[in-house]
Amino acid sequence: MKAVTWQGKRNVSVENVPDPTIQEPTDAIVRITSTAICGSDLHLYEVLGPYMHKGDVLGHEPMGIVEEVGPGVTNLKVGDRVVVPFNISCGYCYMCTRGLQSQCETTQVHDKGSGAALFGFSELYGSVPGGQAEYLRVPFADYGPVKVGSELPDERYLYLSDILPTAWQGVKYADVPQDGVLAVYGLGPVGQFAARIGKYLGHRVIGIEPVPERRAMAKRHGIETIDFTKDTAEELRSMTNGRGPDAVVDAVGMEAHGSPVGAFAQNAVGFLPDKLAQKVMESGGSDRVAVLHSAIDAVRRGGTVSLSGVYGGSVTPMPMLSMFDKQIQFRMGQCNVRRWTDELLPIVEEPSDPLGVTDLMTHEVSIDEAPAAYRNFQKKTDGAIKVVLKPQGVAV
Ligand SMILES: NC(=O)c1ccc[n+]([C@@H]2O[C@H](COP(=O)([O-])OP(=O)(O)OC[C@H]3O[C@@H](n4cnc5c(N)ncnc54)[C@H](O)[C@@H]3O)[C@@H](O)[C@H]2O)c1
Ligand SMILES: [Zn+2]
Ligand SMILES: [Zn+2]
Repeated sequence: MKAVTWQGKRNVSVENVPDPTIQEPTDAIVRITSTAICGSDLHLYEVLGPYMHKGDVLGHEPMGIVEEVGPGVTNLKVGDRVVVPFNISCGYCYMCTRGLQSQCETTQVHDKGSGAALFGFSELYGSVPGGQAEYLRVPFADYGPVKVGSELPDERYLYLSDILPTAWQGVKYADVPQDGVLAVYGLGPVGQFAARIGKYLGHRVIGIEPVPERRAMAKRHGIETIDFTKDTAEELRSMTNGRGPDAVVDAVGMEAHGSPVGAFAQNAVGFLPDKLAQKVMESGGSDRVAVLHSAIDAVRRGGTVSLSGVYGGSVTPMPMLSMFDKQIQFRMGQCNVRRWTDELLPIVEEPSDPLGVTDLMTHEVSIDEAPAAYRNFQKKTDGAIKVVLKPQGVAV
């Protein structure tokens, strides 16, 4: 089958690889009809290379049709249409039963000290072949895949695999008070949804984003927007009676623009051999912190900072004085996808499309065009905001 593979920093290629097969009784094979590129794939593309291997199959936002099920699978049958969450979780362990599926104790990657295994996400998360491919092997298929109806287009459902529950969790964790103000840094796909969810839940939302077409998209959904500058925190205070927003979602993560020191460190690490680079990343501060520090500066005293964006350094410098003095609460983590999908499914099916899931995708291309799609999405050229690959071909 065809699959999108990692070949090196900023280098992906479409290769022919063996079709996946059922390996455990609880596996299913899904024929992928749509599979998106995520901001997290960009971290693998750019800075997490030391954890990738040539030929690793990428992708963790897939949906499609069940093609085959193992003898232990009872909830799914061949022909079911499913969205596959990016976490691989068992559904029955201590963590899964407490809504912490991203920490699943059955699939945790112990040799790396990581949480639940993830599709297509480097050796840090189990080196599981990903879903930017014609077919995907799905472990624990009785629990993970979300069954969806057959009438609405893929675009309605696809984002349940990751970015919609991620944004939902980010906003829930932000704990915005009634009539509160939510600031969302980054209006990429995750930030778009976080901002729209904030509106949907009745809050005033201010989005911060350097790319004009991303600000324009958010404006269409009633979001106030500003550019990111060194005075962003001050600007946010001036928009909120001098106090700052009640809560902030950081939907940017470790590759934030405006952090020259972190950018230099990330680049330098990129030139080291993998094992050494891993050591440096695990013991050094390899995050770009402009957004994180701006969020801490901007949030009002006693407010909450919720990190949806992924961070990876272990000595990332943090302004402890401000954090303590301002009594800031922090929440963060990979999304527990399955915790939120039952709540979100009826919302994406509503005819009025309240979260605007049909106003996010800017590019729908065949899987062969993945290398160019990655470039455009990373460089934000050609108006790319959300790119969806169609392994079975693009309908004309
Ligand atoms: N926690 C999770 O489970 C989870 C799931 C999915 C994605 N993510 C993470 O969420 C983040 C966003 O993902 P995405 O798909 O929206 O990707 P993206 O890369 O398109 O979004 C990042 C956005 O931040 C903007 N940005 C960069 N520097 C900025 C700055 N200084 N101020 C404000 N905005 C700035 C970029 O222009 C871009 O629009 C990534 O870190 C991704 O890894 C986390
Ligand atoms: Zn993702
Ligand atoms: Zn589990």
